[in-house]
Formats: sequence, structure tokens, C-alpha cells
Amino acid sequence: MDNFFLVSFLGFLIAAQGIAGNMGHYNIDMLEELESMDIEEENEIELSEIPTWKSERGGKVLVNVDSFGAAGDGVTDDTRAFQNAWITACSAPESVFLVPEERKYLVNATRFKGPCADNLIIQIDGTIVAPDEPKDWDKTSPHIWLNFSKLDGVLFQGHGVIDGSGSKWWASSCKKNKSNPCRGAPTALTIDSSSAIKVKGLTILNSQQMHFVISKSNSVRINGVKVSAPGDSPNTDGIHITESTDVVLQDCKIGTGDDCISIVNASSNIKMKRLYCGPGHGISIGSLGKGNSTGIVTEVILDTAVLKNTTNGVRIKTWQGGSGFVRGVRFQNVMVEDVSNPIIIDQFYCDSPTACQPRTSAVKISEIMYQNISGTTKSAKAINFDCSDTVPCSNLVLSNINLVKKDGTVEAYCHSAQGFGYGTVHPSADCLSSNDKRVEVAESSVQDILHTEL
Ligand SMILES: *[C@@H]1O[C@H](CO)[C@@H](O)[C@H](O)[C@H]1NC(C)=O
Ligand SMILES: *[C@@H]1O[C@H](CO)[C@@H](O)[C@H](O)[C@H]1NC(C)=O
Ligand SMILES: *[C@@H]1O[C@H](CO)[C@@H](O)[C@H](O)[C@H]1NC(C)=O
Ligand SMILES: *[C@@H]1O[C@H](CO)[C@@H](O)[C@H](O)[C@H]1NC(C)=O
Ligand SMILES: *[C@@H]1O[C@H](CO)[C@@H](O)[C@H](O)[C@H]1NC(C)=O
Ligand SMILES: *[C@@H]1O[C@H](CO)[C@@H](O)[C@H](O)[C@H]1NC(C)=O
Ligand SMILES: *[C@@H]1O[C@H](CO)[C@@H](O)[C@H](O)[C@H]1NC(C)=O
Repeated sequence: MDNFFLVSFLGFLIAAQGIAGNMGHYNIDMLEELESMDIEEENEIELSEIPTWKSERGGKVLVNVDSFGAAGDGVTDDTRAFQNAWITACSAPESVFLVPEERKYLVNATRFKGPCADNLIIQIDGTIVAPDEPKDWDKTSPHIWLNFSKLDGVLFQGHGVIDGSGSKWWASSCKKNKSNPCRGAPTALTIDSSSAIKVKGLTILNSQQMHFVISKSNSVRINGVKVSAPGDSPNTDGIHITESTDVVLQDCKIGTGDDCISIVNASSNIKMKRLYCGPGHGISIGSLGKGNSTGIVTEVILDTAVLKNTTNGVRIKTWQGGSGFVRGVRFQNVMVEDVSNPIIIDQFYCDSPTACQPRTSAVKISEIMYQNISGTTKSAKAINFDCSDTVPCSNLVLSNINLVKKDGTVEAYCHSAQGFGYGTVHPSADCLSSNDKRVEVAESSVQDILHTEL
């Protein structure tokens, strides 16, 4: 939306507040705040500690895994060589931990622990592959494959591939075969308890479970990362962000069997720009509130995304019985193509083999803005706000929405959801304001103003 329109819209609300006398209900500050939340482009970002890799390698200490006995044949276990190379690279300043191109390294579950000396670069140009047999997996590290922790000011880059060889893990998942026990599987790449991290250009394939987890970290920049796994591989989220702040993802292409992006508890200031997702389950905040837990996610922006053949577009999902809140989210400039639930809030999420019991507490969802979202939906319920009976969603704002179905009509569904739309909103989201007379007045007046102005 251009600023002129914003200004006139806000101006209208302020005027309406004067006239109706009772529009305090609409938090103008909130709208302004949602509108002005910004995305810095990666090249504008100053992360002073982050080193650069000079092509002439001036002053850099090259630590090649091959020099530590790695075979690089995809068959020999190179775990020991990687661990030893890591110790050397981590302890010397200006090091480049190098996984050379055109070679394939078989590596087991490994912890790459910091803190490290200044200006470490992890240059992955070759392929790192995981042992494919779950039975051989290190029982003491069931949830990790490559886990980097306690790093500060580190650059991961290269045109290499991290390949989880996950097919046997998927086959043994309880999602694939109900007689299998439900257990966790490794995450391909984890960055944990770190700050000032930049990741550029890597490809992560066929993870055993989640592909890339950013956990307990801050100031993270992910640029041009590709993630790929089959659409029917279970729980293979693309990029999962937990307990992290100030994370920017941009120009990533992600196709998996689960969420393209998932943002969970204790995360704030998360920005996503120019994403391509599909297949998979779409871009999600949540799930939150499982097992009566507290979930808090604030300040999330998605700007410019294409979602193709995903089961959801932009989604917020919470379990009944949780607490906490999701607040201050803007999803904008999104194209959907053959997406089942383009806009969805699901507060009755239940990803469990047994039915979930009704609960009264819930994660509070408010100040969520959807702007310029268009394309084709597979389900008739193109907009679905299914909120908690006891903790309604509030201040959901829709503007310039155009969702159509190839063969039939579309509708918006609201349960315990309050908010409003302005500009074109198709399907009409009148259901957001149907419980609130003042809102009805406001919305029709917004339409009048729009029509007279245009
Ligand atoms: C490491 O990988 C090899 C080769 O796949 C496997 O035989 C071995 O059991 C693994 N070791 C551990 C500790 O996971
Ligand atoms: C990664 O390793 C660190 C250090 O060993 C550990 O504290 C952390 O829990 C691990 N992360 C995950 C997601 O397992
Ligand atoms: C599911 O797993 C059980 C036990 O492991 C196995 O006997 C059965 O053949 C599997 N079913 C399918 C459809 O793969
Ligand atoms: C859509 O995704 C599903 C699930 O991954 C896949 O089976 C199907 O072939 C995809 N359709 C298209 C048109 O890509
Ligand atoms: C969510 O994060 C908050 C801190 O922000 C913490 O108190 C709470 O225990 C976390 N919940 C879960 C499920 O980890
Ligand atoms: C969640 O809270 C409900 C209601 O207080 C309680 O019955 C249930 O056992 C709790 N569930 C868990 C996993 O703690
Ligand atoms: C709306 O979103 C689409 C898809 O990202 C984009 O191409 C278009 O420029 C956006 N329109 C405006 C007015 O920003």
C-alpha cells in the first residue's frame, strides 16, 4: 500500500474517532506500528563482527578437512576428521573451515562448539552426507546431526550441500505408519546459542526431520539458502526459528513435507523477504501452547512470497490450553497458487495421535495484518480465522486481498475473531466485524470514503 493511502486511511480513522467518539477500540498506534515495521535488506545490514572471505584469502588460515584425514568418498566415516579440523579452525583467528568442492563427506552426529577465535568462516563447497541408517545413529544425540553452538560473528557460506539422507527415517515415522513409535529424528543443521551469524547460499536436502533450526540466537542473517525434500516427508520443516530475535531470512527457496518456515516460542523481530515455498505446509507462526505451555511471538514480517501447492499460505497455529500471545505480525505481498488455506488462524491445532480435549485457556492473537495477498485457493474457506472461544483474536486487519477458486466460490470464516478490512477484500471479511456494531459503521464508512476518493 502506498503511503498516501495509509495516511488517508489513518486520517479517516482519526476523523471517525472524532465523529463517532468511540473508536478507541481501534488502536491507531497499532496500525501505524504494523505499517512501519521495516525490513532491512541484507546488504544494508551492518554486522560489524562478520568477516568477509576474500578471494585472495589474504590473511586467512585455511583449515581443510582433507588435511585432517577426511576421505571425502561418501563411504568412509569422516566424523573424526571434521572434529579435529573444527578444533584447529575454532581456536585460530581468521580461520576458514573448508569443506572442499566436488567431494562427499560422510559425517555422523557432531557438535561444533564455540566460542571460537575471531572471524571464523565455515566454507562448505562440497557435500556433507549423513549415515542413512537410523539404527546406526548415535543414541546420545537423537535430535542433532550438525549442531553448531556458542558462535559469535561467524559466516557460513558456499555452494555446497548438506544432505540428511532421510528416507529411512521418514519410513520409520509414526506419521507414515501408525504402528511405528512416535520419536524424534535429527535436525540437519542447528545453530544454537549464537549471535551475529550469517548464512549464505547453502543447500540443505532430505533432512531426517527439520532441515535448519535457529535456536536461542540473535542477529542472524540467512540469505539464498535452498531447502528441498519430498512433499510427503514427515515433519521436515524448512527453517525453524525458536527462542531467537533479530533474524532476517531472504531469497530462500524451500520445498519440504512440512512448514516452509516455522516460528515458535520466545521469538521476536523476525523478518522474511522474497521467499518461494512449495510443496509443504506454508509459512507458520507456531505451533504454540502445546501441553499448556506459554508461547510468545512478536514482531514478524513477511514481505514478498510465492507459495505454490502448499497446504497453507500464512498460518498461525496454537494448541488449546496454552497461554502467552502472538502480536504484531504483517504478512504482505504474497502470491498463492493452488494453496489449500491461504490465510488461516487455527487455535484448535492438534497434531497428536490422540484427540485433544477442549480447554479454556489459549494463546492470545492480536494485531495481525494481511496486506496484498492474492491468488488461487484449493479450499472454499480462503480466509479462516478459527479463534479460541474464551480468548478471541482481536485487531485482525485485511487489505487488498483477492483469493479465487478455479471452480467455485470462496468465503471467509470467523469464529471468535474481531477486526476489519479495507480496500478490496475478496472474499469479503464482513464476519470479522459482525459482532461489533461500531466496526460495521467504521467499515462501511471506509468503503464510502474509498469509493468517493477513487
Ligand atoms: C557413524 O557412522 C558409521 C557409518 O555409517 C556407522 O557405522 C557408525 O555406527 C556411526 N557411529 C555413531 C557413533 O553413530
Ligand atoms: C546443540 O548443542 C548444544 C551444545 O552441545 C546443546 O546445548 C543444544 O541443546 C543442541 N541443540 C539442539 C537443538 O539439540
Ligand atoms: C507398518 O509397520 C509395521 C511394523 O513395523 C509393518 O509390519 C507394516 O508392514 C508397516 N505397514 C506399511 C504399510 O508399511
Ligand atoms: C503438489 O504437492 C503434492 C504433495 O507434495 C504432490 O503430490 C503434487 O504432485 C503437487 N502438485 C503439483 C501440481 O506440483
Ligand atoms: C516460552 O518462552 C518463555 C520465555 O519467553 C518461557 O517462560 C516459556 O517457558 C517458554 N515456553 C516453552 C514451551 O518453552
Ligand atoms: C493442561 O491443563 C488441564 C486443565 O487444567 C489439565 O487437565 C491437563 O492435565 C493439563 N495438561 C498437561 C499436559 O499438563
Ligand atoms: C502485491 O504482491 C505481489 C506479489 O508479491 C507483488 O508482485 C505486487 O507488486 C504487490 N503489489 C503492491 C501494490 O505492492
